[in-house]
Amino acid sequence: MAILVTGGAGYIGSVTVELLRAKGERVVVLDDLARGHRDAVPSDVSFYQGSVGAAELVGRIAREHELESCIHFAALACVGESVTEPARYFDNNVRQGIVLLDSLLKAGVRRLVFSSTCAIYGEPEQIPISEDHSQQPTNPYGWSKLFMERIMESYDRAYALKFVALRYFNACGATENRGEQHDPEPHLIPNVLACAEGRLTAVSVFGNNYPTPDGTPIRDYVHVADLGEAHILALKHLRDGGESERLNLGNGYGYSVLEVIETAREVTGRPIAFKFEPRRPGDPSRLVADAKKVRTLLNWQPEFSDLASIIRSDWQWRLNQHRT
Ligand SMILES: NC(=O)c1ccc[n+]([C@@H]2O[C@H](COP(=O)([O-])OP(=O)(O)OC[C@H]3O[C@@H](n4cnc5c(N)ncnc54)[C@H](O)[C@@H]3O)[C@@H](O)[C@H]2O)c1
Repeated sequence: MAILVTGGAGYIGSVTVELLRAKGERVVVLDDLARGHRDAVPSDVSFYQGSVGAAELVGRIAREHELESCIHFAALACVGESVTEPARYFDNNVRQGIVLLDSLLKAGVRRLVFSSTCAIYGEPEQIPISEDHSQQPTNPYGWSKLFMERIMESYDRAYALKFVALRYFNACGATENRGEQHDPEPHLIPNVLACAEGRLTAVSVFGNNYPTPDGTPIRDYVHVADLGEAHILALKHLRDGGESERLNLGNGYGYSVLEVIETAREVTGRPIAFKFEPRRPGDPSRLVADAKKVRTLLNWQPEFSDLASIIRSDWQWRLNQHRT
């Protein structure tokens, strides 16, 4: 029996494939390579280039590999892009997501781990944010993920689809062989390190007058290997007959943008210039998870929770990649 990993050529998906294989799991990857990298998937893993909205392809994969579950990472995930291209985001993340769910059910697959996001909460009313916080996304990307959660809830009631929606806060860091390489790159740490490498002249810091100690936004950073581990635990929960769940994945404390830049200067020993730019609409001042539920329910214990270790892992990966 195999696990279908959609988006397995992307950042978090490829790291999770690495961890699954280390545990002896059989994995099949489906990715359209719109944002992923073929070489992030080991050559001995079955790989299908195609979209999760291709029902016949998913049906064929299910027949060829005897699927027992799916980890669904595949999505477009840039907040700003979703504001200017909402149709593309709802088509890719929601319409195609529904086709995937229907194709899985048709093939008898009823276990799904889903990549959700803290963007479903919108502007926080209290910090830390717990799973029952109100959900009012401030952009189409966040809505696309919230719609999928609601659809999966209905599918659970009607068709007994069991799912765990993992609401990630900020994924970051790298393993020895896999790291974050997006184009465009919307995330802070890769841009900060691109600066340290000399590939970028200055990091843009959006807003310096937020109600935080240094005026820049505060985010909860989670190492990608810890995220990957949570998917394995979520799958175990479903295999053991667990109910559907929605779980925050964060470390429970936050760092400001300026703290990230300062830590990266210390870790790399290189200068990192930054420039202040206007706030981005819909960027909350603080996003920090209340992650007690995932720790209790799945016994998830993040290994790399401090910022310096996270940045060091990413820097080391970049040095290996580019021989900076
Ligand atoms: N990176 C983060 O900080 C973060 C935070 C919260 C949630 N997430 C979610 O986690 C998931 C993975 O994020 P990531 O950072 O690894 O992104 P990524 O872009 O690196 O990976 C996504 C992968 O999915 C593929 N893909 C996209 N649409 C597809 C489709 N319709 N059919 C087949 N393949 C498709 C892309 O080619 C890519 O390889 C996404 O669902 C994202 O929304 C990420």
